[in-house]
Amino acid sequence: MHAVGIVAAAGSGLRLGSDVPKALVPLAGRPLVRWAVDTLLAGGVAEVVVAVPAAERDAFAAVLPDRVVLVAGGSSRTASVRAALKAVDSSADAVLVHDAARPLTPPDVVTRVLAALAGGARAVVPVLPVVDTTVAVGADGMITGALPREQIRRVQTPQGFHRATLVEAYRRLPAHAELTDDAAVVHTAKVRVATVDGDERAAKVTVAHDLALAELQVRV
Ligand code: CTP
Ligand code: MG
Repeated sequence: MHAVGIVAAAGSGLRLGSDVPKALVPLAGRPLVRWAVDTLLAGGVAEVVVAVPAAERDAFAAVLPDRVVLVAGGSSRTASVRAALKAVDSSADAVLVHDAARPLTPPDVVTRVLAALAGGARAVVPVLPVVDTTVAVGADGMITGALPREQIRRVQTPQGFHRATLVEAYRRLPAHAELTDDAAVVHTAKVRVATVDGDERAAKVTVAHDLALAELQVRV
């Protein structure tokens, strides 16, 4: 199977509050985007396309392998992935979309996603169980009811897709739609999405505390 990776790395990282784009922030001396690209390649992806902030192309090129293709991202994650998807070779069977913000994702997760696609899934996401009690709350902050925890999962990346299925789902998605991940994009096109085991180490770096935890994790 010919699989191409997309890394969404065009965000600014407002919640992290660094002075460079979040994907360029170093973790153990290596920029987050480099960790994400290396994980995809180690897990069995043949090529990688990275969506970067348009003004920062040179800074990204300087920290990534030459064979990585860079495209200008958009104003939302959805727009960035849409732009990267246009640069994916149409001979590819599969596309894996990954967040630069999940630097410590083990290559095993990539391997599991690829295996599910090879087994015939058209869309697959890595998921983790929820360990806390889950409830629904109203706009006033009061609990309105219990949510069945065993039916709920936390969704991670990389998310894998049959390439033509993902391309068609993006084609059907309204131009300015903003969804938080790509499983949601194919779900709107009524594609069934399978799950594989995620990994706690694939946690997303969103705020400074997450980066501090990731630094500790690299040391152990
Ligand atoms: N992303 C992107 N293009 C955007 C916005 C986000 O490619 N216009 C990417 C980010 O670079 C990140 C991933 O989507 O790897 C997940 O987004 P998030 O964690 O929200 O990162 P940022 O948008 O950079 O952070 P913030 O929302 O705090 O500004
Ligand atoms: Mg964001």
